[in-house]
Order: sequence, then structure tokens, then C-alpha cells
Amino acid sequence: MILDFYNVPVWKSDAEQILLPKIQEELDTAYLNSTFSMKSGWGPTHYISEPDFCGSIIDPTMKFFPREIDRHLDMYLEAIQFKETNFYSLDLEHTIKSCWFSKFEKGNYAHVHDHGSSDISGVYYYKVPGKGSELFFRNPITQMSSSFIYEHLSTSVDVTPEVGTILLFPSWLQHGVKTNESDDTRVSVSFNIQFERT
Ligand SMILES: [Fe+2]
Repeated sequence: MILDFYNVPVWKSDAEQILLPKIQEELDTAYLNSTFSMKSGWGPTHYISEPDFCGSIIDPTMKFFPREIDRHLDMYLEAIQFKETNFYSLDLEHTIKSCWFSKFEKGNYAHVHDHGSSDISGVYYYKVPGKGSELFFRNPITQMSSSFIYEHLSTSVDVTPEVGTILLFPSWLQHGVKTNESDDTRVSVSFNIQFERT
């Protein structure tokens, strides 16, 4: 029997089907009102609506999108058993402290990165091309990649999203986006969630 310690919990689910048109509609408006640029110093990777990662595309007129993030966040906290810890309480506050569009034209990609000191990060898929542009997560046990015996277990894991897919993951988990080989634009919405400390 193998005791497979230290798994990393990544949430993958879909927006509620009946809410999907409403969420997409809210994001249509935000997308049209956004301006895009590449992050200075990154090279020609992809276009970002909030290149300093401090702002948010979520405004007070948006209801369905932030609510759906919160609904999935609640299920994720349940799944990782955070609610059973002493840190959890019903009035524990959290904030989506930054939220931005990432736009990938043909040939664009995202290098391996993490989301720093946030608690939980996530991504919602707004437009998904037919081919390529998968998200991949790096195995955080970096020692495996330099091990003769365990190297084959250190590979990255790909996630192929569809429109409406929602992922939640630890902000420290490194990830990237494969090159968009399609003529279609890929657009995702990334966000960072921070919980209050009492
Ligand atoms: Fe990211």
C-alpha cells in the first residue's frame, strides 16, 4: 500500500449552468471596458487588464460572478476541511483583493509563476479556444525533479478548461499557461482571495 502524502488540493468545477449566461454577460461588459497591456519586463507573453495586479474588474454592478466565486470558495473550504479548524468561523471575512482578465492571442503563453502571499487564487474561463492554452500546475515538491527514481512523478499536471470552468488553488502553487496555438483568443479571469486574520 502506498501512503501518498502531501497532495495539493485544487478545486475544479463549473459555474452553475443556469447562471452561466448571466456571468458571461457581466464579464462581457467588464471585458469591453477593460484596456489590455503586456506586463512590463515579461516579454511577449500575454495581455493583462490590471498589469499591476492590484485592481479588480469586479465592480458593484456585478452580482452573479462574485457570488459564484464565493459559492465555489465555500465548497472548496469544506472540501479541504478548513471549516473543521480553529481558524474558521461563520463570520470569517474574505476579500477578492485583485481580479484581472488575461488575454492570450495566438502564440501567447504564461510563464511559470505563483500568486505570492494571497491565501487562495483562482481562475474562471471566459473564452476558451479549441486547441492549446491549457493551464498546467507544477509539482511543488521540487526535489522530485532532480531524483533518479522519482523524477517521473514530478511532472506538471495539465488542466483543460471549458467556458465556465472555475479553479481554486493555493496561491503558492506554481502554474503557467501553454502557448495558444489556436486563432481564437483565450480569455480567463484570475483572482486572489485574502482572509482576515484575527
Ligand atoms: Fe496565475
